[in-house]
Amino acid sequence: MTDYRLLAKQIRSLAEDEPNYIPVLSNASALLYENMEDLNWAGFYVMNKGSLMLGPFQGKVACIRIELGKGVCGTAAQKDETQLVKDVHQFPGHIACDGASESEIVIPVHDGEAVRAVLDIDSPVKNRFTVSDREGLEKLVKVIEEGVSWA
Ligand code: SME
Repeated sequence: MTDYRLLAKQIRSLAEDEPNYIPVLSNASALLYENMEDLNWAGFYVMNKGSLMLGPFQGKVACIRIELGKGVCGTAAQKDETQLVKDVHQFPGHIACDGASESEIVIPVHDGEAVRAVLDIDSPVKNRFTVSDREGLEKLVKVIEEGVSWA
């Protein structure tokens, strides 16, 4: 099980050193990818000109733009709601950037009230993400929201 409290502490400390969203989201992707088992992608899409644009990540080359309401990421952003998908093949409109993905979790990241980005984590294992992962990751996203500067 991933130690989300330790990750949150590391992210908080990194954001104190430099709050700009590029290094914060980049190092958050690196920490998650290194410390969670069975992942094939971990990173962020950021809101840009009304749609989601690929941001800092670890993993294979990914789709650059996702419209709101499309795929798991666009759904999470539009509904402002975490999407925990046990089997991506059962999710209508899932966007397969990497054919190896089997399960996925996407969590909205806010700037005040507005959704500013989403955290997207993919796994080649079905049913990889539990309710505990969801809780840990949502807390981690809160730490990012508190420490990051979008300017
Ligand atoms: N699967 C995502 C697209 C992003 S990639 O997996 C990195 C989706 O359906 O939104």
